[in-house]
Amino acid sequence: MEEPDLKTLLEQALQYSKEYIDSMPGRMVYPSEEAIWNLDGLDVPLSLEGYPATETLALLHRQGSPATVAQTGGRYFGFVNGGAHPAGLAARWLADTWDQNAALYAMSPVVSKLEAICEKWLVDLFRLPKDSAMGLVSGTSTALICGLVAGRNHLLEKQGWNVSENGLMGAPELNVVISEHAHATVLKALSLIGLGRRKVFKVPCDDQGRMKIEALPEFNSFTLVVAGAGEVNSGSFDDMKAICARANSAGAWVHIDGAFGLWAGASKSTYHLFDGAEQANSWSVDAHKTLNVPYDCGIVLCRNRSSLISSLHASGSYIQWSENRDGMLYTTEMSRRARAVELWAVLRTLGRNGIESLVDQLCARAKLFANLLRDAGFKIMNDVTFNQVLIAGASNDETQRTLEYLQKSGVCWCSGSVWKQQSVIRISICSWMTSERDVILSAEAFIEARTMAQSVKP
Ligand SMILES: Cc1ncc(COP(=O)(O)O)c(C=O)c1O
Repeated sequence: MEEPDLKTLLEQALQYSKEYIDSMPGRMVYPSEEAIWNLDGLDVPLSLEGYPATETLALLHRQGSPATVAQTGGRYFGFVNGGAHPAGLAARWLADTWDQNAALYAMSPVVSKLEAICEKWLVDLFRLPKDSAMGLVSGTSTALICGLVAGRNHLLEKQGWNVSENGLMGAPELNVVISEHAHATVLKALSLIGLGRRKVFKVPCDDQGRMKIEALPEFNSFTLVVAGAGEVNSGSFDDMKAICARANSAGAWVHIDGAFGLWAGASKSTYHLFDGAEQANSWSVDAHKTLNVPYDCGIVLCRNRSSLISSLHASGSYIQWSENRDGMLYTTEMSRRARAVELWAVLRTLGRNGIESLVDQLCARAKLFANLLRDAGFKIMNDVTFNQVLIAGASNDETQRTLEYLQKSGVCWCSGSVWKQQSVIRISICSWMTSERDVILSAEAFIEARTMAQSVKP
């Protein structure tokens, strides 16, 4: 087998990427059934001798590219995803060529430096306490685990119990307080760190999915609270000022799950939603959502640097620590991709004003979408304060069938959910690419999908 020539392959990949970008405006947002069916072409028996790498890449582009979801176009509104900012994507290509391991300074001085800079910038951008620490992980799911582990260990340490050494068996009990609207990954994190899904106090919420302050239980120094900056359906924010004030006077720990919403803190027009969050102890947020850094780039931030480090500590005789930043101290992982490269590149390229404009643009597009659909007779089920819009038709049945037609239309793609016992279509505006025209075209597709839904008898 001839040795693959890296430069030839990268040029081939560049060519395919350009073709992919050019195909974006004319293609269906969700892949056709035929494109998905053609994926079977990738499922061949693992050969003995292998194939030339150029052929492998050609097959991947031929069969794979048409079966992708056009998330980097402007009309993907599913779940709460993101869009790849060009500066982040390009920096990531370069970083992939570098192939750095971000675990230790000794493995990559450049990545260590970039992580340290991102930490400083983010702490400053969100106006967090000066010595707050940052770790880069795969996404908010993992960032939540890191933040909650730091909180759990810190609270128990204050009771004289070292969880890292002694585990949880026999440990004093903590009171965990979460929202009844807490994201599924909060419950998953609690189950993974031994605090369980069931033994938590779930605070009832108002009609927007915000914890009712009057329904909060008493906090004390055994209390671990998770508050939300951005409810996954409505995009609402808990009253973090009130929650943090109570927690701080009781010696409780507050973690803020701000997967997409923490970025509200980066814009003057949305800062009121974030206000008070800076008083928390730890935060989780995705750069791959609102900031549009390519997947996977999650961030944990922690006011108590030593609690984060001591909770995630791993060591070995062969590990070479340094005076500089050793990234593995701040995450659950050891070997890691150099996520700081694309994070640094997007933050530097956008600057404070660019980040603010991005957040404002996403919110403005969400409001436009809501207005167009309200005018067309759809029900808007939430207060559109950030980037999320919840839409309902005249009945659950009509909503679900409208969603089906909408998804098949290929014009845009939304996912569904249930809100206040009603079926809804969720719109999540997360991409810098989404233009006013994209919103107008998508609103038209909604209207057409509803017409088709109404013309079919249930
Ligand atoms: C509020 C909230 N928390 C946590 C998560 C999980 O984030 P990730 O998918 O990056 O792990 C999400 C994902 O959408 C979310 O919206």
